[in-house]
This record gives sequence, C-alpha cells and structure tokens, in this order.
Amino acid sequence: MKKKAKKIVIAGAPASGKGTQCELIVKKFGITHISAGDLLRAAVAQGTDDGLKAKEFMDRGDLVPDEVVVNMVKSRLNEPDCAGGWLLDGYPRSASQAEALSSYGIEPDLFLLLDVPDEELLERVVGRRLDPVTGQIYHLKFFPPPDETVAKRLTQRSDDTEEKAQNRLKVHHANVNAVLSKYKNIMKTIDGNRQKTTVFKEIEGLIKSM
Ligand code: AP5
Repeated sequence: MKKKAKKIVIAGAPASGKGTQCELIVKKFGITHISAGDLLRAAVAQGTDDGLKAKEFMDRGDLVPDEVVVNMVKSRLNEPDCAGGWLLDGYPRSASQAEALSSYGIEPDLFLLLDVPDEELLERVVGRRLDPVTGQIYHLKFFPPPDETVAKRLTQRSDDTEEKAQNRLKVHHANVNAVLSKYKNIMKTIDGNRQKTTVFKEIEGLIKSM
C-alpha cells in the first residue's frame, strides 16, 4: 500500500529549535524540508527582486511582506520533491499567510509548535553559529563545533544580535495566536526547553503516529 504523504508545519519563536529539529526529522524520515527563512536568505544572496525587497525587513527582524513570501513558498511546495510530503519551517507566520495556504488547497496534517521561554531564546540566538560547508547549526555553548577547522569557518547570521532578536520575538508574539487558532485541531505543543535529542524523541513519536 502506498504511504500517505506527510505534510507537516513546524513553528515556534526565533531560535526555538525549528531548524535543529528539521535536520533530525529529515535524517530520520527523509521528508523535504522547506524553510521560509532559508528561501528568503537565498533570494537575498542571489540579489533577486524579491531578495532586494525582503532584505530591509529581515535586517530589522520584521516579517517580509506577503507579496514576496507567499508566492515563494507556494512555488517551492509545487516542486516535484514535495509530492511525497513536506516539512514547512517558519511558514505560515500570520493569519494572512495561513489563509493564503488554504486558498491554494494546501493543508498540513500536523502542526508542531516548539515552546521555549523568551529568556532562553535570547541566549540561543546570540550563541548560534552556522557551518557554511555542511549547513549544520551549532551553538557556542550548547552545541559547540567538533574541532578547530569547523570552528574557524563558522558564520553568524546578521539578524542574530540581541537587539534584532528582541524585535523578532515581539513580531512573533504579535502574530502567533492568529496562526495557532487556525491549526488548533492538528496542533501539538512540544516543550522545546529540553535536550535536542529529547525534543526530537517526542516529535519522532508524533510523526510515526501520523
Ligand atoms: P527564520 O530564518 O525562519 O528565523 P526564525 O524564525 O527567527 O528562526 P531561527 O532560524 O532564528 O531559529 P530556529 O527556530 O530555526 O532555531 P535553531 O534550530 O537555529 O526567519 C528569519 C527572518 O526571515 C524573519 O525574521 C523574517 O524577517 C523572515 N521570514 C521568515 N519566514 C517568514 C515568513 N513566513 N513571513 C515573513 N517573513 C519571514 O536553534 C537556534 C540556536 O539554539 C542554535 O544555536 C541551536 O544550536 C540552539 N538550540 C536548538 N535546539 C536547542 C536545544 N534543545 N537546547 C539548547 N540549544 C538549542
């Protein structure tokens, strides 16, 4: 019997661990991962029209306007590698983005919400580093790089300062309830303030039971 495609949204405040958990989910289940933030950063890096529009909002930690982000995510979801399911990270982030998904007939089956206290999030943001070679997410204190070679090449996101993170958090709190109310029937809240492997165990169980 053909397996049903898994359609999953993962949400949570900035630095709640969405990207970290997505790495583990992809490794275990092989689902196509689509990160709205990564799509936007790629457009900025390529200097496309959308990227140029997005940059000023991302630099402030504000939501990028729907006219840019909605079509970007929709097009990505229509690519062939999403036919077998998808793991959507950081989208929808507002009521209008959730409405747009529905209007295209795109409905997730599971909505995972990572719950982490704000004071913990700030420490995670400022200590986060990325390995541009492997894409691996590290944290200077919680998940330090394995050796000097990796440590030397790590980069930091330009919006990972305390000031910008405060604004990202404010924007998150202003929008999250409208999104949660739309998905309350399929929502599972996960305590994200635990070891990443413990958080993943719970997520793994939820995905297996889909
Ligand atoms: P985006 O890139 O999505 O950023 P975000 O939502 O702020 O989330 P992050 O990527 O910061 O964190 P994460 O939850 O993935 O955490 P991570 O696993 O890395 O968006 C960036 C910007 O793009 C937005 O501000 C906005 O401008 C724009 N944008 C994006 N989507 C949009 C949309 N839909 N509409 C409009 N605009 C949009 O973990 C963080 C750190 O914590 C890491 O160092 C990690 O190692 C560590 N960590 C992870 N798990 C644990 C754990 N369990 N214990 C201890 N440390 C941990």
